[in-house]
Amino acid sequence: MSESQGKPWAGVFEGATDPRVEKFTESVSYDHRLYAHDILGSVAHAHMLAKTGVLTEDESDQIAKGLAQIGKQIAEGSFVFRPELEDIHMNIERALIEQIGDVGRKLHTGRSRNDQVSTDFRLWIRDAIDRLDDLLVNLQRAFVSRCERDEGVILPGYTHLQRAQPVLANHYWLAYCEKLERDRLRLRDCRARVNQLPLGTAALAGTTIAIDRQMVADELGFEGVLANSLDSSSDRDFAIEYCFVLTLIAEHLSTWAEEWILWSTFEFSFLKLPQAYCTGSSIMPQKINPDVLELTRGKTARVVGNLQSLLVLVKGLPLAYNRDLQEDKERVFDSAETVEACVELATAVVAGAELNREAIAQQLDRGYLDATTLMEYLIGLGIPQRTAHGIIGNLVAVAMKAGVPLSELPLAEFQAAHKSLDEKVFDILGVERAIEAFSSYGSTAPKEVAKQVEIWRKRLGT
Ligand code: ARG
Repeated sequence: MSESQGKPWAGVFEGATDPRVEKFTESVSYDHRLYAHDILGSVAHAHMLAKTGVLTEDESDQIAKGLAQIGKQIAEGSFVFRPELEDIHMNIERALIEQIGDVGRKLHTGRSRNDQVSTDFRLWIRDAIDRLDDLLVNLQRAFVSRCERDEGVILPGYTHLQRAQPVLANHYWLAYCEKLERDRLRLRDCRARVNQLPLGTAALAGTTIAIDRQMVADELGFEGVLANSLDSSSDRDFAIEYCFVLTLIAEHLSTWAEEWILWSTFEFSFLKLPQAYCTGSSIMPQKINPDVLELTRGKTARVVGNLQSLLVLVKGLPLAYNRDLQEDKERVFDSAETVEACVELATAVVAGAELNREAIAQQLDRGYLDATTLMEYLIGLGIPQRTAHGIIGNLVAVAMKAGVPLSELPLAEFQAAHKSLDEKVFDILGVERAIEAFSSYGSTAPKEVAKQVEIWRKRLGT
């Protein structure tokens, strides 16, 4: 079988590959996504080979032109992918040879597909990180934009999904900004480790060919050159780390989605979701379902699963490259695509939802949201915390029996609970006054929240 019809590695083989093996081993059906990065890497490699004298300038030019042509064909959809050539790397290389002849056969000098695929993958992930960072900023902006609209709105805050203490809606929105900010920092941190050049480590041991890896790193914008060929040929830490960051983002969105699903129920009635992001039922005519939120929550499962798959994939793999590693790509592509879509849609939902201010306000005096504030007031009068906790607990029990909020108990009840409680308690009872009583840094105190909103506006330039 001549090489031009078959595999680039066919030399040592005496027979043909079983077609089932071709189907089983091919990856071009999904790693074609790497084509632009593969071409970038190959062009940089050719430039470098010309600089070190392995190729002539003319050969390097021919290769670069040929690759640009192939890139155009792939972008336009006119390129014919051949699964029997396994992956995107060999598909492009074969097309190059067919277009420019023997010069194309020199491109793979001093490299292997092992360092090539890692280079392409790192370049792809680097772009994906930058794309996602922009999307995360948009989502943060959507939350910060709500702060103007929802200024002064008080929500019940929950622990154990039980009413706990009052919080400003803006405090809530900024809570998500903080989580997303940590995600952005994690992405940035991960990017630095992604952005290291493996190319030139060849199969596993390096090469005898005169190469200049720093030059390739400079052309491709890599921050460093990986120092150990065995390590770089086998390393997929960068992909796993990226998937971990994606997983945390998905988890954050899943929390938000769950919360808003609850808030948009008839039972909560806190929130009206934008209808463009809801869908209906095929049988119940009245239904407006929060499907985008549910799928955001649901798709988190596959993102977690992808991370799990990658971790299991590399477990116990001996150095250096093993073909198992080809299984990394679909997991990473899927997580990236999924999380990007979730973040984009979350941005639209956050921007388009409306708080039902009246319904929220009507229910605020339920659940004794001001009990802890009253306890802290008592502590301020010199009562030890544990004692104050017991006293207010008893008072809440009295109010519960009477079916009234604390602010509607008669003064006599407070005085019976503790002699130092007088009519001043009415200055701090009720959620509006309870909110005003907060003072600590990072709390829901209106002044503190206002400062944070300002900080976020400046940070995001909104
Ligand atoms: N398609 C392969 C992958 O994704 C590229 C490297 C193959 N290397 C090899 N020696 N078969 O990992």
